[in-house]
Amino acid sequence: MAKINKGFLNLKENYLFIEIGRKIREYTEANPGKAIIRMGIGDVTLPLAPVVVEAMQKAAAEMGVKETFKGYEDSGRGYSFLREAAAGYYKSFGVSIEPDEIFISDGAKSDSGNITDIFGENNVVMVSDPAYPVYVDSSIMNNKQVIYADATEETGFVPVVPKDVKADLIYLCSPNNPTGAAFTKEQLTGWVNYALENKAVIIYDAAYEAFISPDCDNNPRSIFAVEGARRCAIEICSLSKTAGFTGTRCGYTTVPKELEFYDDSGTVYNVLKIWSRRQGSKFNGVPYIIQRGAEAVFSPEGMKQTREAIAYYMENARIMSETFDELGIKYTGGKNSPYIWFKCNMPSWEFFDLLLTEKQVAGTPGVGFGKNGDGWFRLTAFSTRENTIEAMKRVRELL
Ligand SMILES: Cc1ncc(COP(=O)(O)O)c(C=O)c1O
Repeated sequence: MAKINKGFLNLKENYLFIEIGRKIREYTEANPGKAIIRMGIGDVTLPLAPVVVEAMQKAAAEMGVKETFKGYEDSGRGYSFLREAAAGYYKSFGVSIEPDEIFISDGAKSDSGNITDIFGENNVVMVSDPAYPVYVDSSIMNNKQVIYADATEETGFVPVVPKDVKADLIYLCSPNNPTGAAFTKEQLTGWVNYALENKAVIIYDAAYEAFISPDCDNNPRSIFAVEGARRCAIEICSLSKTAGFTGTRCGYTTVPKELEFYDDSGTVYNVLKIWSRRQGSKFNGVPYIIQRGAEAVFSPEGMKQTREAIAYYMENARIMSETFDELGIKYTGGKNSPYIWFKCNMPSWEFFDLLLTEKQVAGTPGVGFGKNGDGWFRLTAFSTRENTIEAMKRVRELL
């Protein structure tokens, strides 16, 4: 008799985006003439940078020639050209990572979930409330206990280091989805010290690091900018938002060589070795063509072109922030993040309905990311300029 992994029975119904989709569909069917501006899902709208497309076309041509054709990749960690390019990128903001500490992935979602495989069921996992839902779901699927670190209006939606609670694994995300809040170096140092004291591991989701404004040197782009983080953290990175790779799929995960974990008897194991073993058995790499496209992101021209797209989105974020500033509505994000997280002064779902039915703008109810999100609402800056301006006009009319 085949037995189910009971973790799957403990998952909550994943109803957030399904429910949003259903409500939009029903509204559209009942009101066919009314166009909806979608500012809910955090997907990009600009195309890939020309330099990325060129690199992928060149790589596709190589795949059609006997001498340059590529099959399985030997290392299973990604081609060295891309690992070296990613290490060079780290270096550009002052962080020293060796190429063989970098694992090329098909994106941050897979690795932030898959990483739980190598940590036993008896780990207590701490997740901020609110949080990107993957952290909770993948921990529950792996039968781990989940506890929460509150991120609230009072803390600026940054999770606060707990005083008397012990966690073994900690998910942190900065700049944060959904709240847009970014850790200062001091705040992140607090978490690193907590992890070191508790021999815990931080899984640090840096999917939005590229949105940190160049003039904000006190908001680290990487947890490895913090002293001691190499002994307690894994960093998960993505080109999805950095370079418009949501449909192209490529990211990288950084596991420092000195990072350790333990068995019940206290025997020490090397995390990089075990993660490498796990990847060797369960992952066969990212396509060569995509890895060449990703390499181009880190080239000087790639950096220039992809930063132009980020600047476009951040101008949307500025327009949105300005609107909420003028309306005197509290919000976080918008500065180092493509998300605006604002106080809607009513249950989040009620506001969702109001904004949709009165103004035909779709966003994301904050409560979908955790109980502390109720009364808050997320809008993304990934829309077009025209839609952003129009949506803000409608928000002004409503609020
Ligand atoms: C915090 C966070 N991590 C990871 C991801 C997923 O990234 P990827 O497309 O690289 O899987 C997202 C996507 O929205 C995200 O918001």
